[in-house]
Amino acid sequence: MEVTMARKALIWSMILGLASLLVNHVDGDQLQKMQALKDSLARHDSISLAPSSLISPSPSPTSLLPSLKNPLVYHVTSYGADPTGKADSTEALLGAIADAFHGPSEGFLIEGITNLGGAQINLDGGNYLISRPLRLPAAGVGNLMIHGGTIRASDDFPTDGYLIDLSSASDKKIEANKDSSMNANKLSASSYNYEYITLKDLLLDSNYRGGGIAVINSLRTSIDNCYLTHFTTNGILVQSGHETYIRNSFLGQHITAGGDHGERKFSGTAINLIGNDNSVTDVVIFSASIGVMVSGQANLLSGVHCYNKATGFGGTGIYLRLPGLTQTRIVNSYLDYTGIVAEDPVQLHISNTFFLGDAYIVLKSINGVANGVNIVDNMFSGSNNGVEIVQLDQSKGPFKKIDQVIVDRNNVKGMNIKATVARLSVQGNGSSWTADFNKILLFPNLIRHVQYSLNTLGNIFPNHALRNVTKNRVVIEANEALPANVFVTVDQGNGS
Ligand SMILES: *[C@@H]1O[C@H](CO)[C@@H](O)[C@H](O)[C@H]1NC(C)=O
Ligand SMILES: *[C@@H]1O[C@H](CO)[C@@H](O)[C@H](O)[C@H]1NC(C)=O
Repeated sequence: MEVTMARKALIWSMILGLASLLVNHVDGDQLQKMQALKDSLARHDSISLAPSSLISPSPSPTSLLPSLKNPLVYHVTSYGADPTGKADSTEALLGAIADAFHGPSEGFLIEGITNLGGAQINLDGGNYLISRPLRLPAAGVGNLMIHGGTIRASDDFPTDGYLIDLSSASDKKIEANKDSSMNANKLSASSYNYEYITLKDLLLDSNYRGGGIAVINSLRTSIDNCYLTHFTTNGILVQSGHETYIRNSFLGQHITAGGDHGERKFSGTAINLIGNDNSVTDVVIFSASIGVMVSGQANLLSGVHCYNKATGFGGTGIYLRLPGLTQTRIVNSYLDYTGIVAEDPVQLHISNTFFLGDAYIVLKSINGVANGVNIVDNMFSGSNNGVEIVQLDQSKGPFKKIDQVIVDRNNVKGMNIKATVARLSVQGNGSSWTADFNKILLFPNLIRHVQYSLNTLGNIFPNHALRNVTKNRVVIEANEALPANVFVTVDQGNGS
């Protein structure tokens, strides 16, 4: 009884399934026909507008296929790209990029940047081998996405190249020869190369030949959920332009999860920011000599976990090479056995960051300037090796211009605290009390402000005064001997 019921149910579900399949098929067919009709009309329209610009310079037989299905999605497999990663797919990928570049556009973004209307180059989840950098045919476009697959450099990929190269291509001249209005627009002088290019869901394997992504003089570039590995130069290079946002990404020269035997030999820089107003958020850097190199202003690093190369092996988590004008914020990050170096920091904020494994911050004097530095509310953890949480590198000369430097409220376990604000209490029975702050204060021989209170029991109300503030030692004297506690607070921070 039960068996026949089940069988009946099965048959019914099969009939229903078949029926829905038929319906779907008809629907799909009709949809395709309608789409084809729409596309043919649309194409007709565009052709009458600007005929030469819409025809790809070397149309592959399939290059018109993607536009039949969806005018703005270019599937690289339709261009003959090999998703198994065996055959070289450079030409196919460049073909899709060129078609997107020449595809329909909708006015402009910033002046001189043609709006490609959200065109997508879809990698169809494949793994592609390329032997040359992927570049757009020319500068001057925006609102384009490349996403969804793996790109790997071949063994003869140029070692100074980047897998995805958003620079102003050197083949600009070739494009300039075409006299279509659209290309003229695309080449019209914008002060930026590209705007709103999105690189998303990509694994970029540089095969130890060159870099991953170069973003040159571009505006509002988005690099999201990418995994960059096997780079020898930079994982991501950002030069000039503004607002490259790198987020939810993983970068490592070698694929490792820490404690790698070859860590001493890690080289390269995972993210190199030679520009302003960029942001790196929720990014893990798991191997490289330098995690993030910053030499432009107003960059923000948040949620960056660096375990790229331990300080003990010569690595640096974040290197701020902008002496005299740093303007960098590092927040909510995780420096894991590798630290931060800041040259002549001027406006630098480091907070809510966890330093593990004796990781520390170095302020490196170039011209002796440290101004507007907040290192507050961080956690430091080490192995009782006496490592100081903030250190000065004065090998090029001492810090001379120190103002508004605040190192305070950091909690420390197994390392030596350093601060610019400090408190001590001194107990004594006599007429002089000395509070020695050398162990804790960051800068030698610098105390700008002192506050103290003298606490004594009994019937004596002595005269007392602050007598000497030299070499980070504070001396308080009374006019007579007495047992007392003296509480002293000092500050190196504010010059004014
Ligand atoms: C402080 O020193 C004086 C003189 O040496 C001594 O008489 C007194 O008992 C001391 N008081 C305390 C609290 O140690
Ligand atoms: C302050 O103390 C230093 C030693 O720490 C000494 O050389 C200097 O003469 C003292 N200054 C005064 C005004 O007593």
